[in-house]
Amino acid sequence: MKNSRTRHLAILGAQWGDEGKGKIVDLLAPSFAIVARSQGGHNAGHTVFVNGEQFILHLIPSGILHDGVTCVIGNGVVVDPTALFAEIDHLAEQGIDTTGRLFVSDRAHVILPYHRDLEAVSEARLGNQAIGTTSRGIGPSYEDKAGRRGIRIADLADRSKSGRLMTLLDANVAARNSVIPSGPMSSRSLVAELETVWARLAPMVTDTSALLHNALAENKSILFEGAQGAMLDIDHGTFPYVTSSNSTIGGVCTGLGVGPKAIDAVLGIVKVYTTRVGAGPLPTELTGSAGDRLRESGKEYGASTGRPRRCGWFDSVAVKYAVQVNGIEALALTKLDVLDDQEKIKICTGYRCGDNVLTTPPADIGQLGRCEPEYEVLPGWAGVGSCAGVRLESDLPSAARAYIERLEELSGIPAAIISTGSDRKDTIVRESGLASRWLK
Ligand code: GDP
Ligand code: IMO
Ligand code: MG
Repeated sequence: MKNSRTRHLAILGAQWGDEGKGKIVDLLAPSFAIVARSQGGHNAGHTVFVNGEQFILHLIPSGILHDGVTCVIGNGVVVDPTALFAEIDHLAEQGIDTTGRLFVSDRAHVILPYHRDLEAVSEARLGNQAIGTTSRGIGPSYEDKAGRRGIRIADLADRSKSGRLMTLLDANVAARNSVIPSGPMSSRSLVAELETVWARLAPMVTDTSALLHNALAENKSILFEGAQGAMLDIDHGTFPYVTSSNSTIGGVCTGLGVGPKAIDAVLGIVKVYTTRVGAGPLPTELTGSAGDRLRESGKEYGASTGRPRRCGWFDSVAVKYAVQVNGIEALALTKLDVLDDQEKIKICTGYRCGDNVLTTPPADIGQLGRCEPEYEVLPGWAGVGSCAGVRLESDLPSAARAYIERLEELSGIPAAIISTGSDRKDTIVRESGLASRWLK
């Protein structure tokens, strides 16, 4: 644990996304001046419950629900302005005013309608090898960024005929039309739409790296919010079944323009079981009724796309790997209550691959797909007690406490938070743990 000067915290998903990051960010946000999102786009979906009211965040950091918290969408995020405005409007309808406290990086890349078209084509082309993306244009927008033809927020300021935006749009739209000749797109009509976009976006646009550095100089505390999870990271995840950005710790630095020493601590969020939405290997996946049971108990349907999430037992190989690649020092264990009705609970401790048992995920996706999980079995607490809504650790059934202890042993780090329900209040924050200093 860091000394009392520890104030800037990174919160990252340590599985395949949807670990409950939104809930934990919302819980700790009041102790921070700024909550800053580093990567991804509106592929993310974070559901947060406050006194029974549901809020769903996609692009906007989950700290926004607290007045007085400034929220930043960093340069590493890909921004669909239409989706951003829809989210702002929806929050306003729910009584959350973002005016003057939501900032978007001038260096962030823009998602435009042709990105969604191109994604549909590339997914269709892959047939049964498709990634199962969220169809939001995330991948093609990052492709344009890496291909050095992407349009950045700053480019939207000059919409003149001879400006950089128009040149880029002409080329990008022509490329799109050559791949998808039916229903051709026009760069002229696109630029006209961007006129309206800019009028609304401009007041939020700034150099967010400079904003964060000013805050650091003024000793304001920052919560760095990651989207997705380590196993969806483009470098460290189950490539190619991943998202197109770095959802591991490096993405915080590149996606916000801060150095590694600005991050005092890293909290990894994990469900006490496993889910994945989209295609790709999931070694502990439960098919049939066992999987359905977890899905129904955990209400495992995507917040962005409504797709049923694939469910399985806790995979300690994946979590230990995520702990390593991120330098995670403590975990928030979420959804413990979802296991309330399980008589027996399994934990994957290794991947059997032929004669070998692997304790770290292999790079070869085919090999990972063929791995069989090695399980240890722990007693559940069905019929003995319930974890739902428990706020004191001593009130948890003893089998649940034993399960937590085993997860900590296998992950190699302690749990700082245990979540027992979807509401803010349904949470145990360990006094001795990493997160307690940020709990107001
Ligand atoms: P995120 O993308 O990591 O923020 O996670 P999501 O919001 O996509 O998915 C997590 C889901 O689990 C949300 O619907 C949360 O409301 C819910 N949730 C979070 N923590 C708990 C918990 O401890 N128990 C239960 N039952 N639900 C939880
Ligand atoms: P949060 O932040 C779960 C998955 C998609 C697909 C793959 C690539 O809510 O945890 P993309 O549209 O990013 O190109 O899709 O990544 N995916 C997520 N899965 N949670 C997310 O975000 C996800 N964001 C993307 O389902 O398999
Ligand atoms: Mg989610």
